[in-house]
Amino acid sequence: HVAVLDFGSQYTQLIVRRVRELGYFAKLYRPEDLSRLGEPGAIILSGGPKSTADADAPDIDFATLDNFGVPVLGVCYGMQLLNLKFGGTVEPSDRREYGPAQLIPTEKTGLFANLSERSQIWMSHSDTVKNLSGETKVLAENQHGTPVSLGWGDRFYGIQFHPEVTHSHEGTQVLRNFLHLAKGLTEFRIEDMKRDLLAEIRERVGDKQVVCGVSGGVDSTVLAVLLNEAGINMRAIFVDHGLMRKDEGVEVRKNFERMGVPIETIDASELFFERLEGVAEPEKKREIIGNLFIDVFWEAVGNAELLAQGTLYPDVIESASNEGSKASKIKTHHNRVDRILELQRQGKVLEPLAELFKDEVRELGISLGIQPDIVNRHPFPGPGLAVRCPGVVDRERVRIIQDADDIFIGKLREHGWYDKVWQAYACLIPVKTVGVKGDERSYEWAVGLRAVISEDAMTADWVELPYEILRETSHRILNDVPGVNRVLYDVSTKPPASIEWE
Ligand code: XMP
Repeated sequence: HVAVLDFGSQYTQLIVRRVRELGYFAKLYRPEDLSRLGEPGAIILSGGPKSTADADAPDIDFATLDNFGVPVLGVCYGMQLLNLKFGGTVEPSDRREYGPAQLIPTEKTGLFANLSERSQIWMSHSDTVKNLSGETKVLAENQHGTPVSLGWGDRFYGIQFHPEVTHSHEGTQVLRNFLHLAKGLTEFRIEDMKRDLLAEIRERVGDKQVVCGVSGGVDSTVLAVLLNEAGINMRAIFVDHGLMRKDEGVEVRKNFERMGVPIETIDASELFFERLEGVAEPEKKREIIGNLFIDVFWEAVGNAELLAQGTLYPDVIESASNEGSKASKIKTHHNRVDRILELQRQGKVLEPLAELFKDEVRELGISLGIQPDIVNRHPFPGPGLAVRCPGVVDRERVRIIQDADDIFIGKLREHGWYDKVWQAYACLIPVKTVGVKGDERSYEWAVGLRAVISEDAMTADWVELPYEILRETSHRILNDVPGVNRVLYDVSTKPPASIEWE
């Protein structure tokens, strides 16, 4: 595998993604865990926010690094660190170089094979390398003649720019070239990953019993099917809180039946609607649903020996790098509650997908025989339709959302737009306005439609859907969904709006 040592750059995760996109398995490590790399085929040192001159600048044990005997690429901070190790110097400067620059390779071989004479690169640094030791080769410069890539011997390389961001136009080629310098690096195949995961699960679980929750979403479905495939003693529990999409409960059960994975369903909708009665405040609603969900699930679990969760790689990286972070809490997501953290401390949580990105989980799902339409479903929030119903939630309101959503999603599919948008749904806008139905005055609610594209849910843009889809959807909702006399399309970006309404 390719070991990526994280010196704290905001782009480190992207390096891992790019390497995996190039077909090699990459994994993130902390620099102090250098001795735990196993047998890497190549090592990448990431960038970082510190200056090598800082007293608390992260360092690396060079002898250990050298001993691996594999190619090493230092990016930004990583290159400065290597320059110091090879006897050069690094100069702090108060001017930050940020943004585009030109990459001009000295020779178009090795790291820069198949590159253009000049191409755009992306810089984000303040320190620069100053003196170079005798054995240093300058492999590329920028338009001012400043070195932006260095090499030492035939195994150590440094680049001052960020090859992992798309603003470095030929960055991927640089990474590809670097990986080609590594001998015997095996390509990453999802089939191998699956085989290893199954072996690991069997070994870790033994004859203990594992419980996992399923929601019908991609991650938990892949998790349950994987555990089932491992042939271990497994219980999959589906808590239906009644806030699912239309007929989704039935669909989830049918899908699992088709895949031959037994699941237990707990219909707790009565309880959820009861507890939500009269509650309008968004965070309060989330709290009630999150806690009740765990309570119901837990009661069903009994005293299981292991709990399996569909945690993904970005969750792992984020929670590790955000420790102590002061990022403001915008919404409570309910997968990290105290009881699970306690189990985690006791070593009773199994997270087989924790090394995978979302698209890899989808690929794994396909290789496990899960239908593409399940694997490519739009994301759905844990608290379900409650966050698509501003104000109080009751069965009548949920029914309206379900019917309208079903029509909208159906139209998107019919017109081939479902897979083109990242997420789409209908919500209720519980404001009554006046209209005419037949010959009578109507005084009814509005339905909102939302369709967004996004890469990671952090930002989102609304989609310019063809008017035809909006027209047909609106027509059907106004005719077929009782209680609604108006349909609106949400044209808000995130930020400042969010994807959901609450
Ligand atoms: P927002 O509304 O925060 O949503 O822009 C971003 C993405 O997260 C989903 N979402 C949730 N997912 N539990 C989840 O598992 C939650 O509590 C939750 N709230 C929002 C939302 O559907 C969107 O994809």
